[in-house]
Amino acid sequence: MSLPRRKPAGLHLQGVSKQFGTRNAPVLAVNDVSLTVNRGEFIALLGPSGCGKTTTLRLIAGFERVDAGSIEIDGTTVASSSVHVQPERRRVGMVFQDYALFPHVSVLANIEFGLRRMSAADKRARSLEILELTGLSGLEERMPHELSGGQQQRVALARALAPNPALILLDEPFSNLDAGLRARVRAELGEILHAAKATAIFVTHDQEEALSMVDRVAVMLDGSVKQAASPHELYTDPASRSVAEFIGEANFLPGIGQGDTIECELGNLAARKQIRGPVDILLRPENIELLPAQPGLPAARVRHSLFFGHDQLITVQLPTGTHLTARSGPSDAYVSDLPLQVAVRSPVVAYPRKK
Ligand SMILES: Nc1ncnc2c1ncn2[C@@H]1O[C@H](COP(=O)(O)OP(=O)(O)O)[C@@H](O)[C@H]1O
Ligand SMILES: [Mg+2]
Repeated sequence: MSLPRRKPAGLHLQGVSKQFGTRNAPVLAVNDVSLTVNRGEFIALLGPSGCGKTTTLRLIAGFERVDAGSIEIDGTTVASSSVHVQPERRRVGMVFQDYALFPHVSVLANIEFGLRRMSAADKRARSLEILELTGLSGLEERMPHELSGGQQQRVALARALAPNPALILLDEPFSNLDAGLRARVRAELGEILHAAKATAIFVTHDQEEALSMVDRVAVMLDGSVKQAASPHELYTDPASRSVAEFIGEANFLPGIGQGDTIECELGNLAARKQIRGPVDILLRPENIELLPAQPGLPAARVRHSLFFGHDQLITVQLPTGTHLTARSGPSDAYVSDLPLQVAVRSPVVAYPRKK
Protein backbone atom coordinates (compact mmCIF):
# COMPACT_ATOMS: atom_id res chain seq x y z
CA MET A 1 0.00 0.00 0.00
CA SER A 2 1.40 3.39 -0.90
CA LEU A 3 0.44 6.68 0.65
CA PRO A 4 -2.19 8.70 -1.18
CA ARG A 5 -0.61 11.48 -3.26
CA ARG A 6 -1.94 14.92 -2.62
CA LYS A 7 -0.60 18.44 -2.96
CA PRO A 8 1.59 20.18 -1.97
CA ALA A 9 4.47 17.98 -3.09
CA GLY A 10 7.70 17.89 -1.16
CA LEU A 11 8.63 17.87 2.50
CA HIS A 12 7.30 20.28 5.10
CA LEU A 13 8.44 20.42 8.70
CA GLN A 14 6.45 22.74 10.93
CA GLY A 15 7.62 23.52 14.48
CA VAL A 16 9.21 20.10 14.98
CA SER A 17 10.80 19.43 18.38
CA LYS A 18 12.39 16.38 19.98
CA GLN A 19 13.78 16.05 23.49
CA PHE A 20 15.97 13.27 24.89
CA GLY A 21 17.35 12.65 28.35
CA THR A 22 15.61 12.76 31.69
CA ARG A 23 13.39 15.31 33.37
CA ASN A 24 16.37 16.53 35.40
CA ALA A 25 18.80 16.53 32.50
CA PRO A 26 16.80 17.13 29.32
CA VAL A 27 18.54 17.41 25.93
CA LEU A 28 16.52 19.44 23.43
CA ALA A 29 18.01 17.78 20.33
CA VAL A 30 15.62 19.41 17.84
CA ASN A 31 14.03 22.71 18.77
CA ASP A 32 11.12 24.13 16.77
CA VAL A 33 12.43 23.29 13.29
CA SER A 34 10.47 24.49 10.28
CA LEU A 35 11.78 23.63 6.82
CA THR A 36 10.41 23.08 3.33
CA VAL A 37 12.07 21.01 0.62
CA ASN A 38 10.34 21.18 -2.74
CA ARG A 39 9.88 18.10 -4.85
CA GLY A 40 13.02 17.40 -6.89
CA GLU A 41 15.10 19.73 -4.76
CA PHE A 42 18.44 18.62 -3.25
CA ILE A 43 19.36 20.57 -0.11
CA ALA A 44 22.10 20.33 2.50
CA LEU A 45 21.47 20.39 6.24
CA LEU A 46 24.67 21.90 7.62
CA GLY A 47 25.66 22.24 11.25
CA PRO A 48 28.33 21.37 13.81
CA SER A 49 28.47 17.98 15.49
CA GLY A 50 25.68 17.52 18.05
CA CYS A 51 23.39 20.25 16.66
CA GLY A 52 20.55 17.81 15.91
CA LYS A 53 21.05 16.85 12.23
CA THR A 54 20.78 13.07 12.60
CA THR A 55 17.80 13.40 14.94
CA THR A 56 16.05 15.59 12.34
CA LEU A 57 16.57 12.91 9.66
CA ARG A 58 15.39 10.17 12.04
CA LEU A 59 12.22 12.16 12.78
CA ILE A 60 11.56 12.58 9.05
CA ALA A 61 12.19 8.89 8.38
CA GLY A 62 10.00 7.86 11.32
CA PHE A 63 12.64 6.21 13.53
CA GLU A 64 11.80 8.73 16.25
CA ARG A 65 8.48 10.26 17.27
CA VAL A 66 8.08 14.06 17.32
CA ASP A 67 7.31 15.72 20.67
CA ALA A 68 5.73 18.69 18.93
CA GLY A 69 5.09 19.97 15.42
CA SER A 70 4.25 18.13 12.23
CA ILE A 71 5.92 16.55 9.21
CA GLU A 72 4.23 16.31 5.83
CA ILE A 73 5.51 14.33 2.83
CA ASP A 74 3.85 15.00 -0.52
CA GLY A 75 0.76 16.37 1.17
CA THR A 76 0.32 13.59 3.73
CA THR A 77 0.93 14.20 7.44
CA VAL A 78 3.31 11.44 8.55
CA ALA A 79 4.09 12.83 12.02
CA SER A 80 2.34 15.08 14.53
CA SER A 81 1.24 14.90 18.15
CA SER A 82 -1.50 12.46 17.08
CA VAL A 83 -0.02 10.77 13.97
CA HIS A 84 2.98 8.49 13.59
CA VAL A 85 3.21 6.72 10.23
CA GLN A 86 5.62 3.75 10.42
CA PRO A 87 8.98 4.24 8.63
CA GLU A 88 8.24 1.59 5.96
CA ARG A 89 5.07 3.45 4.99
CA ARG A 90 6.67 6.91 4.57
CA ARG A 91 8.34 6.34 1.19
CA VAL A 92 11.60 7.70 2.61
CA GLY A 93 14.96 6.18 1.69
CA MET A 94 17.81 6.68 4.14
CA VAL A 95 21.54 6.36 3.54
CA PHE A 96 23.21 5.95 6.91
CA GLN A 97 26.60 7.37 7.83
CA ASP A 98 28.15 3.87 8.00
CA TYR A 99 26.05 2.69 4.98
CA ALA A 100 24.54 -0.19 7.07
CA LEU A 101 24.81 -2.68 4.18
CA PHE A 102 23.86 -6.28 4.95
CA PRO A 103 27.33 -7.87 5.06
CA HIS A 104 26.42 -11.49 4.29
CA VAL A 105 24.46 -10.98 1.08
CA SER A 106 25.36 -9.76 -2.42
CA VAL A 107 25.02 -6.26 -3.81
CA LEU A 108 21.92 -7.39 -5.70
CA ALA A 109 20.30 -8.85 -2.57
CA ASN A 110 21.08 -5.64 -0.68
CA ILE A 111 19.28 -3.62 -3.34
CA GLU A 112 16.34 -6.04 -3.65
CA PHE A 113 15.78 -5.79 0.10
CA GLY A 114 13.57 -2.71 -0.25
CA LEU A 115 11.52 -4.27 -3.06
CA ARG A 116 9.93 -7.09 -1.10
CA ARG A 117 6.42 -6.49 -2.35
CA MET A 118 7.34 -6.82 -6.04
CA SER A 119 7.28 -9.95 -8.22
CA ALA A 120 10.68 -11.63 -8.76
CA ALA A 121 10.82 -10.40 -12.35
CA ASP A 122 9.95 -6.79 -11.45
CA LYS A 123 12.48 -6.87 -8.62
CA ARG A 124 15.21 -8.03 -10.95
CA ALA A 125 14.34 -5.41 -13.59
CA ARG A 126 14.22 -2.55 -11.10
CA SER A 127 17.49 -3.62 -9.43
CA LEU A 128 19.31 -3.78 -12.76
CA GLU A 129 17.95 -0.37 -13.69
CA ILE A 130 19.14 1.16 -10.43
CA LEU A 131 22.55 -0.59 -10.69
CA GLU A 132 22.96 1.02 -14.08
CA LEU A 133 21.94 4.45 -12.75
CA THR A 134 24.42 4.23 -9.89
CA GLY A 135 27.25 2.89 -12.06
CA LEU A 136 27.35 -0.51 -10.35
CA SER A 137 26.49 -2.74 -13.34
CA GLY A 138 28.61 -5.88 -13.27
CA LEU A 139 29.09 -5.79 -9.49
CA GLU A 140 25.73 -7.34 -8.57
CA GLU A 141 27.17 -10.65 -7.29
CA ARG A 142 29.93 -9.02 -5.18
CA MET A 143 29.74 -9.06 -1.41
CA PRO A 144 29.95 -5.68 0.39
CA HIS A 145 33.48 -6.39 1.71
CA GLU A 146 34.66 -6.90 -1.89
CA LEU A 147 33.83 -3.27 -2.75
CA SER A 148 35.73 0.00 -2.33
CA GLY A 149 34.39 2.66 0.03
CA GLY A 150 32.98 4.64 -2.87
CA GLN A 151 31.25 1.57 -4.30
CA GLN A 152 29.76 0.68 -0.92
CA GLN A 153 28.42 4.19 -0.69
CA ARG A 154 26.77 3.81 -4.10
CA VAL A 155 25.20 0.47 -3.06
CA ALA A 156 23.70 2.20 -0.02
CA LEU A 157 22.36 4.92 -2.31
CA ALA A 158 21.06 2.34 -4.83
CA ARG A 159 19.26 0.46 -2.03
CA ALA A 160 17.63 3.69 -0.87
CA LEU A 161 16.63 4.74 -4.41
CA ALA A 162 15.33 1.33 -5.61
CA PRO A 163 11.79 1.58 -4.15
CA ASN A 164 11.44 5.01 -5.82
CA PRO A 165 10.96 6.91 -2.55
CA ALA A 166 9.36 10.34 -2.28
CA LEU A 167 12.42 11.51 -0.37
CA ILE A 168 16.05 10.45 0.12
CA LEU A 169 17.92 11.30 3.33
CA LEU A 170 21.72 11.03 3.41
CA ASP A 171 23.50 11.27 6.76
CA GLU A 172 27.10 12.49 6.31
CA PRO A 173 27.43 10.33 3.18
CA PHE A 174 31.07 11.20 2.51
CA SER A 175 32.54 11.02 6.00
CA ASN A 176 33.96 7.50 5.54
CA LEU A 177 35.72 8.30 2.26
CA ASP A 178 39.26 9.61 1.98
CA ALA A 179 39.72 13.14 0.63
CA GLY A 180 40.63 12.16 -2.93
CA LEU A 181 37.65 9.85 -3.37
CA ARG A 182 35.29 12.26 -1.66
CA ALA A 183 35.44 14.91 -4.38
CA ARG A 184 34.64 12.35 -7.08
CA VAL A 185 31.85 10.63 -5.15
CA ARG A 186 30.31 14.03 -4.35
CA ALA A 187 30.04 14.88 -8.04
CA GLU A 188 28.63 11.41 -8.84
CA LEU A 189 26.05 11.61 -6.10
CA GLY A 190 24.75 14.93 -7.38
CA GLU A 191 24.41 13.48 -10.89
CA ILE A 192 22.68 10.30 -9.71
CA LEU A 193 20.16 12.18 -7.59
CA HIS A 194 19.50 14.57 -10.44
CA ALA A 195 18.97 11.70 -12.91
CA ALA A 196 16.65 9.97 -10.42
CA LYS A 197 14.71 13.28 -9.99
CA ALA A 198 14.91 12.58 -6.27
CA THR A 199 13.98 15.02 -3.52
CA ALA A 200 16.91 14.78 -1.15
CA ILE A 201 18.46 16.15 2.02
CA PHE A 202 22.07 15.51 2.75
CA VAL A 203 23.53 16.16 6.14
CA THR A 204 27.05 17.41 6.65
CA HIS A 205 29.18 19.30 9.15
CA ASP A 206 31.55 20.32 6.35
CA GLN A 207 30.60 23.77 5.08
CA GLU A 208 32.73 23.63 1.96
CA GLU A 209 30.96 20.42 1.00
CA ALA A 210 27.54 21.95 1.62
CA LEU A 211 28.23 25.29 -0.09
CA SER A 212 29.73 23.70 -3.20
CA MET A 213 27.20 20.89 -3.73
CA VAL A 214 23.69 22.25 -3.54
CA ASP A 215 21.49 25.19 -4.50
CA ARG A 216 20.13 25.67 -0.99
CA VAL A 217 21.64 25.06 2.45
CA ALA A 218 19.78 24.92 5.76
CA VAL A 219 22.05 25.97 8.61
CA MET A 220 21.31 24.19 11.88
CA LEU A 221 22.73 25.44 15.19
CA ASP A 222 21.72 24.27 18.68
CA GLY A 223 18.76 22.24 17.46
CA SER A 224 17.22 24.95 15.24
CA VAL A 225 17.36 25.79 11.55
CA LYS A 226 18.60 29.38 11.64
CA GLN A 227 18.55 30.10 7.91
CA ALA A 228 17.82 28.22 4.68
CA ALA A 229 19.19 30.02 1.64
CA SER A 230 21.52 29.82 -1.33
CA PRO A 231 25.23 29.46 -0.52
CA HIS A 232 25.77 32.98 -1.90
CA GLU A 233 23.10 34.49 0.33
CA LEU A 234 24.30 32.60 3.42
CA TYR A 235 27.78 33.98 2.95
CA THR A 236 26.97 37.53 1.89
CA ASP A 237 23.81 38.17 3.91
CA PRO A 238 23.67 35.88 6.96
CA ALA A 239 20.38 36.24 8.85
CA SER A 240 22.06 36.43 12.23
CA ARG A 241 25.40 36.91 13.89
CA SER A 242 25.54 33.20 14.77
CA VAL A 243 25.09 32.17 11.11
CA ALA A 244 27.68 34.76 10.06
CA GLU A 245 30.16 33.30 12.53
CA PHE A 246 29.47 29.72 11.50
CA ILE A 247 29.77 30.25 7.72
CA GLY A 248 33.25 31.27 6.60
CA GLU A 249 35.37 33.74 8.53
CA ALA A 250 33.82 36.73 10.23
CA ASN A 251 35.18 39.92 11.79
CA PHE A 252 32.87 42.15 13.80
CA LEU A 253 33.40 45.86 14.25
CA PRO A 254 31.22 48.02 16.53
CA GLY A 255 29.30 50.85 14.91
CA ILE A 256 26.21 53.06 15.11
CA GLY A 257 23.47 52.56 12.53
CA GLN A 258 22.25 55.84 10.99
CA GLY A 259 19.68 54.38 8.58
CA ASP A 260 21.39 53.91 5.23
CA THR A 261 24.87 54.27 6.65
CA ILE A 262 26.79 53.01 9.64
CA GLU A 263 29.29 55.14 11.51
CA CYS A 264 32.37 53.27 12.72
CA GLU A 265 36.09 53.53 13.26
CA LEU A 266 36.69 53.00 9.53
CA GLY A 267 34.39 55.85 8.48
CA ASN A 268 30.79 55.93 7.26
CA LEU A 269 29.92 52.66 5.54
CA ALA A 270 26.90 52.01 3.31
CA ALA A 271 24.50 49.57 4.98
CA ARG A 272 22.93 46.75 2.99
CA LYS A 273 19.69 47.28 4.93
CA GLN A 274 18.42 50.22 6.98
CA ILE A 275 19.58 49.92 10.58
CA ARG A 276 19.67 52.25 13.61
CA GLY A 277 21.40 52.17 16.97
CA PRO A 278 24.43 50.22 18.25
CA VAL A 279 25.43 47.43 15.85
CA ASP A 280 28.12 44.89 15.10
CA ILE A 281 29.26 45.17 11.48
CA LEU A 282 30.13 41.95 9.67
CA LEU A 283 33.37 42.24 7.71
CA ARG A 284 34.48 39.22 5.68
CA PRO A 285 38.29 39.10 5.22
CA GLU A 286 38.01 39.80 1.49
CA ASN A 287 35.93 42.92 2.16
CA ILE A 288 38.78 44.53 4.06
CA GLU A 289 41.30 46.42 1.95
CA LEU A 290 44.81 47.13 3.18
CA LEU A 291 46.34 50.33 1.79
CA PRO A 292 49.62 52.18 2.38
CA ALA A 293 49.65 54.34 5.53
CA GLN A 294 48.91 58.03 4.96
CA PRO A 295 50.95 60.70 6.72
CA GLY A 296 48.95 62.49 9.40
CA LEU A 297 46.28 59.75 9.80
CA PRO A 298 46.32 57.19 12.61
CA ALA A 299 47.58 53.90 11.21
CA ALA A 300 46.66 50.28 11.77
CA ARG A 301 49.52 47.85 12.39
CA VAL A 302 50.13 44.35 11.05
CA ARG A 303 50.09 41.87 13.94
CA HIS A 304 50.59 38.61 12.06
CA SER A 305 50.05 37.01 8.67
CA LEU A 306 49.47 33.54 7.26
CA PHE A 307 50.68 32.89 3.74
CA PHE A 308 48.81 30.24 1.70
CA GLY A 309 50.25 30.79 -1.80
CA HIS A 310 47.05 31.72 -3.66
CA ASP A 311 46.27 34.27 -0.94
CA GLN A 312 47.18 35.33 2.58
CA LEU A 313 45.38 36.27 5.78
CA ILE A 314 46.70 39.34 7.56
CA THR A 315 45.61 40.29 11.06
CA VAL A 316 45.83 44.01 11.75
CA GLN A 317 45.20 46.04 14.88
CA LEU A 318 43.21 49.24 14.45
CA PRO A 319 44.21 52.39 16.40
CA THR A 320 41.43 51.65 18.97
CA GLY A 321 42.80 48.14 19.53
CA THR A 322 40.24 46.10 17.54
CA HIS A 323 41.78 43.22 15.57
CA LEU A 324 40.58 42.48 12.01
CA THR A 325 41.67 39.70 9.67
CA ALA A 326 41.91 40.63 6.00
CA ARG A 327 42.47 38.49 2.92
CA SER A 328 44.89 39.72 0.29
CA GLY A 329 46.58 38.46 -2.85
CA PRO A 330 50.03 36.85 -2.57
CA SER A 331 52.10 39.69 -4.04
CA ASP A 332 52.49 42.11 -1.11
CA ALA A 333 54.62 41.33 1.94
CA TYR A 334 53.06 42.15 5.32
CA VAL A 335 55.80 42.24 7.91
CA SER A 336 54.93 42.52 11.58
CA ASP A 337 54.27 46.12 12.76
CA LEU A 338 53.93 47.51 9.22
CA PRO A 339 51.68 50.62 9.38
CA LEU A 340 48.63 50.51 7.09
CA GLN A 341 45.40 52.27 6.23
CA VAL A 342 42.30 50.02 6.36
CA ALA A 343 39.32 50.48 4.02
CA VAL A 344 36.09 48.50 3.64
CA ARG A 345 34.28 47.36 0.52
CA SER A 346 30.64 48.19 1.24
CA PRO A 347 27.68 47.77 1.49
CA VAL A 348 28.00 45.93 4.77
CA VAL A 349 25.68 43.74 6.84
CA ALA A 350 25.21 44.61 10.52
CA TYR A 351 23.38 43.15 13.51
CA PRO A 352 21.90 44.96 16.50
CA ARG A 353 24.49 44.78 19.27
CA LYS A 354 23.57 42.60 22.22
CA LYS A 355 23.47 44.46 25.51
N1 LIG B 1 18.89 8.58 21.58
C1 LIG B 1 19.39 9.64 22.22
N2 LIG B 1 19.33 9.75 23.56
C2 LIG B 1 19.82 10.84 24.21
N3 LIG B 1 20.38 11.88 23.59
C3 LIG B 1 20.48 11.84 22.26
C4 LIG B 1 20.00 10.72 21.49
N4 LIG B 1 20.23 10.96 20.17
C5 LIG B 1 20.83 12.17 20.13
N5 LIG B 1 20.97 12.70 21.35
C6 LIG B 1 21.56 14.02 21.68
O1 LIG B 1 20.88 14.99 20.90
C7 LIG B 1 21.77 15.97 20.39
C8 LIG B 1 21.73 15.98 18.87
O2 LIG B 1 22.28 14.77 18.38
P1 LIG B 1 22.37 14.42 16.83
O3 LIG B 1 21.03 14.61 16.20
O4 LIG B 1 22.97 13.07 16.71
O5 LIG B 1 23.37 15.53 16.31
P2 LIG B 1 24.25 15.61 14.96
O6 LIG B 1 23.78 14.55 14.03
O7 LIG B 1 24.02 17.00 14.45
O8 LIG B 1 25.67 15.42 15.39
C9 LIG B 1 23.14 15.62 20.97
O9 LIG B 1 23.32 16.37 22.13
C10 LIG B 1 23.02 14.15 21.27
O10 LIG B 1 23.88 13.77 22.31
MG1 LIG C 1 24.87 12.95 13.13
